[in-house]
Amino acid sequence: MKKLWGGRFEQEADALVERLGESVSFDARLAPWDIRGSIAHARMLGECAIISKRDAKKIIAGLKAIGKDIVSGDFTFDPALEDVHMNIETALTERIGDAGKRLHTGRSRNDQIATDVRMWARDQIDVIDGLLTGLQQAFVTFAESHNEAILPGCTHLQHGQPVLLAHHNLAYVEMFSRDAERFGQLRRRVNVMPLGSAAMAGTPYPIDRKRVARELEFDSVSANSMDAVSDRDFLIEFCANVALTMMHLSRFSEELILWSSPEFGFIEIGDAFTTGSSIMPQKKNPDVAELVRGKTGRVYGDLTALLTLMKGLPLAYNRDLQEDKEPAFDASDTVQLCLAVVARMIPAIAIDADAMARATERGFLEATDLADYLAARGLPFREAHAVVGKLVLHCTKKDLKLPCLSLEDLRRFSPLFNEDVLKIMAPEAIVRARDTIGGTAPRRVRAALSRARKRLFR
Ligand code: ARG
Repeated sequence: MKKLWGGRFEQEADALVERLGESVSFDARLAPWDIRGSIAHARMLGECAIISKRDAKKIIAGLKAIGKDIVSGDFTFDPALEDVHMNIETALTERIGDAGKRLHTGRSRNDQIATDVRMWARDQIDVIDGLLTGLQQAFVTFAESHNEAILPGCTHLQHGQPVLLAHHNLAYVEMFSRDAERFGQLRRRVNVMPLGSAAMAGTPYPIDRKRVARELEFDSVSANSMDAVSDRDFLIEFCANVALTMMHLSRFSEELILWSSPEFGFIEIGDAFTTGSSIMPQKKNPDVAELVRGKTGRVYGDLTALLTLMKGLPLAYNRDLQEDKEPAFDASDTVQLCLAVVARMIPAIAIDADAMARATERGFLEATDLADYLAARGLPFREAHAVVGKLVLHCTKKDLKLPCLSLEDLRRFSPLFNEDVLKIMAPEAIVRARDTIGGTAPRRVRAALSRARKRLFR
């Protein structure tokens, strides 16, 4: 065990304290960002004559070499050195001597870690943004491949009105495009540089924060040093955005699970995205969708962990903040994997358009249109609603479907029914009638699809 903290300590840390306190087992993955930040800091120290240009050069070369070794797997992280920062700084001094000890001038691990995590989050947002685009593309291509299919649209999971399957698919495109927008807005708040806040109060050295920010591609520098080192609201927001995306993925997964059950029989998910049973030979289970749904709960846990972590912390930095990383990493890894998997699974979904069409025959999907028909002929909608309600009750008792009724049957419920009513009950006609902005009429859906295609395939 090593003595880490210079002159103040006479004894080494207890073995359990090392185990409790080390973070390198999970923050080592921040090394690329840590090194990039340190290089920019060292260059600035040299430019501002806070350290010699010679030392700055040595530091930068040393850090680059360490970066390469980490990538090639030739670097061993030591938990006794606590975290990624101390591991890299210690290695640097071992390699280049005293110059390495000057890197930490005008800096603290507090502003260093806050900077690393913001750079990391920024890059994750960019990756997630690309994955969200890929997923939306998959939905659009899928929707285009079955332009005509109609299925029962549900409320309360009860048949409501027929809709185009493409319309249903495009609902998810809307959700994931809002998710992408949210991440884009968050990126602006993330991209503010804490470095230069030092431990919490700033630093007496004549540092040039803006120069470092430019090199590290930050849009601005933080305005308050105490806030900058101790705030993690950007990570909470990140996890909240991830949680929302997972929630959307989970709703879709739930539908795939339902639709692939024999009760629905609307789809079959390809072999590559399903699994068998170790005992029941006939089984083909939608495990991928189930796992995505399950992992959503785990990501909610990450969000809750961060919120709870932060709520009692006095200003400024507290070591509790070290616990921010695992939930954030987990949320990020999980959503990235799930987005990629679902985007690949969508083209492997085969639909049974006939089963969907047969389902539209159940559940009196024509009822709203019959009421609208009567309302258009002068009956107040509430009364029309009641008339059709009675019609549905009649059919239920006699085990009939609305389109099976003759004009005579219908007229017994209202004299306003005419010959033309028989034409409005086909699912195609019902769908075509919903020709408002955002409605399921084929013409509207085609336009929405082509707008989505233009936006997503550039
Ligand atoms: N590993 C620490 C973290 O993740 C780095 C900052 C340590 N700062 C301190 N004052 N002990 O938060």
